[in-house]
Amino acid sequence: MIKSPRGTRDLLPPDTALWNFVEAAVRDVFRAYNFHEIRTPIFESTELFARGVGEETDIVSKEMYTWEDRARAQSEKTQSLTLRPENTAGVVRSYIEHQLGETGQLQKLFYIGPQFRRERPQKGRYRQFSQIGAEVIGPPSAGSESPLRDAEVLEMLATLLNELGITGWKLELNSVGSAADRARYNEVLRTALDAVVSSMCVDCQRRAATNPIRVLDCKVPADQPIIDTLPVIADSLNEASRAHFAQVLAALDAAAVPYTRNHRLVRGLDYYTRTTFEFTHGGLGAQNALLGGGRYDGLSEMLGGPRAPGIGFAMGEDRLVLTLLAQEAAAPQVLADAYIAPLGESLNAAALSLARELRSQGLRIELGDGSFRLKKSFEVADKTARRMIILGEDELQSGILTVKTFATGIQTKVPRTELAVFLTKPASE
Ligand code: HAM
Repeated sequence: MIKSPRGTRDLLPPDTALWNFVEAAVRDVFRAYNFHEIRTPIFESTELFARGVGEETDIVSKEMYTWEDRARAQSEKTQSLTLRPENTAGVVRSYIEHQLGETGQLQKLFYIGPQFRRERPQKGRYRQFSQIGAEVIGPPSAGSESPLRDAEVLEMLATLLNELGITGWKLELNSVGSAADRARYNEVLRTALDAVVSSMCVDCQRRAATNPIRVLDCKVPADQPIIDTLPVIADSLNEASRAHFAQVLAALDAAAVPYTRNHRLVRGLDYYTRTTFEFTHGGLGAQNALLGGGRYDGLSEMLGGPRAPGIGFAMGEDRLVLTLLAQEAAAPQVLADAYIAPLGESLNAAALSLARELRSQGLRIELGDGSFRLKKSFEVADKTARRMIILGEDELQSGILTVKTFATGIQTKVPRTELAVFLTKPASE
């Protein structure tokens, strides 16, 4: 048997109705905040992620799906391509390539689509997963560096989760400062780690030498009490970074968005500067991040573009749906408004014509088959629709149809011209 590859999933009804509900709700919220949709390719040059996300990160060093591709069918020359592990680098590449900064305006862009990471699959962690994300980016003259942008994005996320009906989320917030602040902090950490790192895990010993800040990502239980004693990044921030963060917090307080500060939240991608955040949910288990994001004031320049500070986030759509499923027990089964049962194969064509007529009036119609016995039609219809319409020779000639409503068991004679109105009535009548 051929199965879907490890870490991938089929999304089936009725769950797909929940995916569509989530996407429709977020589109409404994005609209209210004046975001516009962007669609970038699912694969990009490998170099984009190496430079944007960072060679040293887990994503780039071990999780990417990368291959050599020939630029032309017969050519010897190859280029390295990668299935996107995230979408921020692609959006910023597109911003640079299409000179969106030349408009002088803030670009507020959102995306919904699949991402790929070769991670060890578990609940809430897949190799193909879907992100709903947004980025606010533009020249500094458009206000892209303002702390109000950070606060607005966070306030939008709180609204969005509430709108989706997700309860019990928690916003964790930190500032990782400017590139210079981080370099300073790395040195402070390196010194502090000298004294303790020999009793830490091998990964931390390596990180202490290469990129000390990554020690804060360590999940090994025995290392946690040691990490808790390390200096915090807040003490290494310069005046401008501190002031920016203070203004973000003040705006969140004013908007009554609850948050907690987490000094260890440095995030696993190298492009972040200043504000970083995650929204977590206790119901998700080990993979508890519903979404993550932050500021990336130097990313455009890292990719060879103009100065274009930005801030954004990506939500794990799989994790949003998991949370909703856990909250609602199960997605409700969506039933068709009616099932048309033609009595005999000679009535199939007339049944299709009736289905077309009703569908054009906005009804959800399931079409049976004239080869079914009436008993079988009843059984199938009862599972898929709220009502069943019987279409025999007599009904066709007279224009009066018999409709059975399953919830009440009542059969009603309805003229064809009044059928659409009848079918929109609640099925309990
Ligand atoms: P990230 O934290 O790597 O950030 O991913 C964002 C979210 O995607 C996570 O919080 C999680 O919900 C979901 N996610 C990540 N990996 C998986 C996986 N293997 N399976 C299921 N869900 C997953 C980014 O990707 C940044 N681009 C976010 C961003 C946008 N920062 C600024 N702008």
